[in-house]
Amino acid sequence: MCGIVGGISTEKVRNFIIEGLKSVEYRGYDSSGLALVINNKCEVYKTIERVNELDKSFESSFDSFLGIGHTRWATHGVPSVKNAHPHTSKSKLFTIVHNGVIENYRILKKELQAKGYVFKSDTDTEVVAHLLEKEYKITSNVLEAIRLTIKQLKGTYALAILFCRDQNHLYFAKNRSPLLIGHAKKGNFLASDYLPLLKTASDFVEIPDFHYGSLSVSEIELYDINGNSIEFSYHQTNLKQEALEKNNYPHFMLKEIEEAEQSVRFLIDNYFDGKKLLFDKDLIKTLKDAKHIIFLGSGTSYHACLTGARYFRELKKNVDTYIASEWAYYPYNNSKDTVFILMSQSGETADLISCVKLIEKQGSKIITITNTQGSTLARKADHVVFLYAGIEVAVASTKAYIAQMTALVLINAMIRNELNIFEKLEEAIVSQRFIIKDHEIIKKVAKEIQNSSSVYFLGRGYDHDLALECSLKLKEVSYIHSEAFPGGELKHGPIALIEKDVPVIVFISDHSTSDAMRSNICEIEARGGKIYVVSTQELSQEGDTYVIPNVRRFLSPLVSVMFGQYLAYYVALYKNLDIDKPRNLAKSVTVE
Ligand code: M6R
Repeated sequence: MCGIVGGISTEKVRNFIIEGLKSVEYRGYDSSGLALVINNKCEVYKTIERVNELDKSFESSFDSFLGIGHTRWATHGVPSVKNAHPHTSKSKLFTIVHNGVIENYRILKKELQAKGYVFKSDTDTEVVAHLLEKEYKITSNVLEAIRLTIKQLKGTYALAILFCRDQNHLYFAKNRSPLLIGHAKKGNFLASDYLPLLKTASDFVEIPDFHYGSLSVSEIELYDINGNSIEFSYHQTNLKQEALEKNNYPHFMLKEIEEAEQSVRFLIDNYFDGKKLLFDKDLIKTLKDAKHIIFLGSGTSYHACLTGARYFRELKKNVDTYIASEWAYYPYNNSKDTVFILMSQSGETADLISCVKLIEKQGSKIITITNTQGSTLARKADHVVFLYAGIEVAVASTKAYIAQMTALVLINAMIRNELNIFEKLEEAIVSQRFIIKDHEIIKKVAKEIQNSSSVYFLGRGYDHDLALECSLKLKEVSYIHSEAFPGGELKHGPIALIEKDVPVIVFISDHSTSDAMRSNICEIEARGGKIYVVSTQELSQEGDTYVIPNVRRFLSPLVSVMFGQYLAYYVALYKNLDIDKPRNLAKSVTVE
């Protein structure tokens, strides 16, 4: 989603901002913009082109020691130059970039319009620029104007603010949208993500919600909503800039699919000391004592939750799984004794953050499983499990899903005190390596289905969970309509969709359901459907499309999912699509 970069430095910041915006491009955007303070004036340039074009088209002589930049993913108002950020206030006193959604912007806009403020865009953001100016005209104090402005805002915001008469400060405010300060000897910087800051800053400051402040070259001032000055501490990150390199791969998605083994190994390295598993003892106690567990997630993370719930049910726990945005509006089962497991690669998914508010109200414990240290969901949790999968750049999640599954497997092993889990995981790794080495058949299937208007995935139990994930992957990157069904549901409706040559991909990795799946295959073939069977060796039959070396039933999602990941990748490749940045999607969904 939207990205923010800003800086005040002893060195000129234009290049830092452009490079920073490039490093958040992977999150998805449809327009971009830049503002630099030059001679007490904000020079602004916006475009619906890529960041490269932004740099090329913005007057090349413009540079400054103070500036802000933005990549926008449209929510309010179509992607256009007028709606791109930065937005400027009526008399051009304030220029701002914003991530998040101002929920009460319509009321605020009406009030401002009544006072003579003319709006140039359709965005919710522009109200903030005008409000700042209105409050400044009353108080003649920028920090106080910011405080009074954010007191009126309902919703989420990360704001980087230029007051164009002040070349010595970069201002900011934050509530429930990510914003970080990066500190370096040469200055202070802002970003919505660590990535733009990694080359420049070594120390970072989390900005708490409902806080605001200012940065000068050498100082950081942070205030709460009542205007009290707040102490803060610095932290470091283990994220590395190199993670943003493709290393000879044509796309991040392919690189990340092939980092599957690494995702499993990094987790083992971080949570196993050679003798025992190292998850926090309190986390394990919380889970052992839990009478009821609710998993919440969105998209791919929700699919990982579905399988996670099966693991916990096998421990005789009462477990439910919900799509985060659904539970947020229908918060069933809300007892204090319920333990919530929040699954999120980014740790910033707005739908989950909304759930947190409800969970906190009822006083239940939160366990966050995330790939992003310092993320909002990590900070809100009672216990955090990090995925250590490294930055996932492609919008379609691949290696993070494998890490999520591995984390769930390891947590369960610790609860069961089961150390032979590592042998089982080694088997899974062998199967993953097999797929990486030998996936010509998957490419062939991709060629065959690339022009299909619909593709269906079928499985039961664990295989259904992974069918859902494979179907999502295909939709996301190839734009082919796709659905996944449990085999048993076929006759209850979906079979009506089967006609001549409709591709149906069937997963078979479970003894207990393989006969039933073979019957489903006959039913589909009888109606002319084009079947592709992905089976494990011991359950395979002659004519199956792709046979995977044996893997335990509960580990099959870690392996068979790679069939779906490669399939989606190659279909998108053959269709010549923007694989790493599929249309309309964002890497981290920070608005509801
Ligand atoms: O960062 P999260 O894991 O919370 O993100 C959840 C979904 O937005 C995400 O999994 C999405 O479905 C991906 N594009 C899947 O490839």
